[in-house]
Order: sequence, then C-alpha cells, then structure tokens
Amino acid sequence: MTARKLAAGNWKMNGLAADLVEAEALAKAFPSPKVDVLLCPPATLIAPMSAKVGGSAIAVGGQNCHAVESGAHTGDVSAAMLADAGASYVIVGHSERRTDHGETDASIRLKTQAAWSAGLVAIVCIGETLGQREDGETLDVVGGQLAGSLPDDCTAANTVVAYEPVWAIGTGKVPTLDQIAEVHVFLRAKLEDRFGAEGAGIPLLYGGSVKPSNADEIFGVSNVDGALVGGASLKAADFGGIIGAL
Ligand code: G3P
Repeated sequence: MTARKLAAGNWKMNGLAADLVEAEALAKAFPSPKVDVLLCPPATLIAPMSAKVGGSAIAVGGQNCHAVESGAHTGDVSAAMLADAGASYVIVGHSERRTDHGETDASIRLKTQAAWSAGLVAIVCIGETLGQREDGETLDVVGGQLAGSLPDDCTAANTVVAYEPVWAIGTGKVPTLDQIAEVHVFLRAKLEDRFGAEGAGIPLLYGGSVKPSNADEIFGVSNVDGALVGGASLKAADFGGIIGAL
C-alpha cells in the first residue's frame, strides 16, 4: 500500500472571520488538487470555514480535542463537536500542546481514539527537542512517542503521523534532507512492524518551517508523504506554493 499525499495547514491561534478569504482563495485555486488538502483553523472558525469551502476539495480540521465526548470540561471541545462543526480531521499531540498543556503520549492515545469515535482522521504529532537531537536521542524519542501515542487499531484511513522536530517549528531552521530521511525511514519501519500493510499506507508528514521555497526538496525525500505547515499556511498564495510542490 502506498500512503496518500496530504498538505495540511495548521493555523494555530491565528485567524479571525476576515481571514476566511484565504480559505476561499485556496478552494478556488485548487478545484481538483492532485493531493489531499486540509486547513486546521482555530476552533472558532471551523464551522464558518466549513461553510465557506463546503463542496470544494479543501477539508477542514481541528487542532485538538478532548478525550471524552461530553461533560464537565469547561473550555474544552470534543471530537464529536469538531465533526458536528464540519471537521473531518483533528491534530493531536502537537508539541505546543505537549508543552503548554502537559499532554502525554497516554493522553494523546486517548484523544486519537476519541477522534476515531467521532469519525475524524487523527493527525498524531511527534518530534524531538534540540537538546534530545544533540544528545543523539532523536530516534529513541520519536520511536517512544510513536509507540505510546498510537492506539492499536491504526489504519491508513484513520491515522496520519506528523514528524515535527520541535526546534524546527517556527524557527526557519530545517533539518538536513538526510536527517529527515533517517527519521521517516525509521518511522515507516516502525509503522509497518506494528500495523503491517496498514502501516505502509499511513501518511507520514514532515512539519517545521516548510515554505514554498523548500517544499520541493523536502517532498523529494523518501517516505515524506506531505507536510504539516504552520506559518506558511495562513496565506493562500504561500500554502498554494507548497501544495503545488507535492
Ligand atoms: O503544525 C505545524 C507546525 O508546528 C510547523 O509550524 O510555522 O514552522 O511551519 P511552522
């Protein structure tokens, strides 16, 4: 099985209603893209963005979900609520949530299962810090996160894995192509060991300072099936350049 290609944009805590014009522009620019295209705006924009791009090839996703479906969890949003608002994907375990909200592999695993229960595809994020890379721990760290964050029932249809080195996020620093290749080959082997043919089809995204100017060479690396893009996904022109390179 070959993994499908996905260009995913993570708007993080950026975007007001006026910025939905960027989603509309993207939908117009890519009426039938060769790859899957996804935008994950803040929770407040999921419903209006879904309404704007409804019927187009652009999918909409959340950036986080709670591990349970409903209840006394003030300020949280469930996977079912995201789906109800028009989402078809949700990012779980982004390093900013691991750092800002103390998320652990165990909690991310539960969120992944919650995403599936609501019919969402889970984009599970993993990645090492600069200190861990400098200490030669990268493969141990990402291997541990992968094993701990993924439930047992991962399939090519319900899961995407995003490798995002923490030190490359929003910094303009990008690993060398050899460094990206080393991690992606390692992750692909781990996915195949655990999930067999399904593991071969799970898309493996790279994330961290992807831009139109470097997308082409990153997408040329074996086992890179797309990107999870932050800053360069906010404007249709920039994200369009990345989609076009995939
Ligand atoms: O989730 C995407 C992300 O963390 C990468 O952000 O701004 O470096 O593309 P950026």
